[in-house]
Amino acid sequence: MAVSPETSAGSEPAQSASKDAVSGQATFVVVANRLPVDLERLPDGTTRWKRSPGGLVTALEPILRSNQGGAWVGWAGVADAELDPIVEDGLELYPVTLSADDIAQYYEGFSNATLWPLYHDVIVKPEYHREWWNSYVDVNRRFAEATAKAAAHGATVWIQDYQLQLVPKMLRMLRPDLTIGFFLHIPFPPVELFMQLPWRTEIVEGLLGADLIGFHLQGGAQNFLYLSRRLAGQPTSRATVGVRSKLGVVQVGFRNVRVGAFPISIDSGKLDEQSRTKAIRDRAKQIRKELGNPERIMLGVDRLDYTKGIDVRLAALHELLDENRVDPKNTVMVQLATPSRERVESYVQMRGDIERKVSRINGEYGEVGRPVVHYIHRPIPRDELIAFFVAADVMLVTPFRDGMNLVAKEYVACRSDLGGALLLSEFTGAASELRQAFLCNPHDLDGVKDAMEQALDQPREDGRRHMRALRRQVLAHDVDRWARSFLGALAQDGVAGRALITPGEANEKS
Ligand code: ADP
Ligand code: F6P
Repeated sequence: MAVSPETSAGSEPAQSASKDAVSGQATFVVVANRLPVDLERLPDGTTRWKRSPGGLVTALEPILRSNQGGAWVGWAGVADAELDPIVEDGLELYPVTLSADDIAQYYEGFSNATLWPLYHDVIVKPEYHREWWNSYVDVNRRFAEATAKAAAHGATVWIQDYQLQLVPKMLRMLRPDLTIGFFLHIPFPPVELFMQLPWRTEIVEGLLGADLIGFHLQGGAQNFLYLSRRLAGQPTSRATVGVRSKLGVVQVGFRNVRVGAFPISIDSGKLDEQSRTKAIRDRAKQIRKELGNPERIMLGVDRLDYTKGIDVRLAALHELLDENRVDPKNTVMVQLATPSRERVESYVQMRGDIERKVSRINGEYGEVGRPVVHYIHRPIPRDELIAFFVAADVMLVTPFRDGMNLVAKEYVACRSDLGGALLLSEFTGAASELRQAFLCNPHDLDGVKDAMEQALDQPREDGRRHMRALRRQVLAHDVDRWARSFLGALAQDGVAGRALITPGEANEKS
């Protein structure tokens, strides 16, 4: 199998997954719900591999590929795929089989209808079902077992994201010789929300099986430290905040678990390079032409998820059109939306809502052959996506809540011409780094409209100044730096635990 990270979705031929069997002695193992590639079953019964959706794969894949000898444990994206471990470009893939029931209960249920909304400010109401929880425990155990088999003695294991929060503890019990890191790619919620979860103690204890737990932002780390103190229960447990190290420490028995903020990023140098190529520049010009050479192109690029605030940007555009503040003759919006979690009820509803909004705007303001909103509901090949970033005058990133949002950073990395403007929700992790963007509160529609209008009308020189500053941040803080900072901290032997301020001081901060 050979699926390059930049391969366009779905372009690979079918291959036998068991071709290159591997021995299972990896010294560095990433564990994530999904493998970096999804197995796709085609109507004619054949299969092919395609790039998996989401920011986690975008961030981690370049690191694993440059780290020869690494292994990745994850699900191949379809039900009941019994696959042997395989090697792809030096990367060992260890597939974990999920049944249709596992997918319904562990993935669509507990992961995406309980934890996802709970951790994203309960934008939709989380559902709590005991059978989903049981499935989550069961699948987490299987991930832990698969990882225990893949890892060499003394290996470093890096567990990813909310789907696998029990794996650190389970894995430690199976393999105490391992060094275990955990990184959460989504926000860690405020204490008041987390306390709704009937299995809150089990989740906190599950995470505390790691040696180092990483969050995007300090706020998430602080929330977790507070909860550990409150729920982890042992009289000797304490959560304090390191002064020099900026890492918090929770004492669990004789172990120190370190907790900190590690804002994730992208392979910005590579994107910068790709976006400068003639092929991409030409394609960007062609995109503008295909859109009818409008004066201004606005762009949204998201998984079709209710957290992303796609409805907000459509509502803002609609009102700006109603108020004659945007002219439909010279402005278009392109919304590229990757299908996501399509059987989860809240996603079904949201898709209907967004598609109604798009057709309403086009019905009222479009002309034959000239819609105002161009909406594509499928994943876009990577090169094509980069060309869209280069073509777009205003990038719309308006989530109600987002752990980081890599799209915002990707856009900036692609603008070596210093053109374009970024409209960015305050409720993304990226907003704490990208201060020169047009920041907006997605709950304040008038504020979003004003920010959208300002971004559209930004004077060229101001735009260049803002983009230069944004690029400085994104190019200097790339995904390699993120990974080195997390793995560097993981490799330290608990030094952070000795540079602590007092529990009293920590209390004041939480
Ligand atoms: P999340 O992890 O919640 O999906 P991020 O913004 O952090 O959100 O990461 C999304 C990743 O998926 C980015 O690398 C982005 O380029 C990619 N992506 C999003 N939408 C599309 C699309 N329509 N086609 C192709 N890739 C997409
Ligand atoms: O962190 C965001 C995330 O949930 C990742 O864990 C995941 O890879 C991505 O979004 C895509 O979601 P899904 O795997 O549910 O399609």
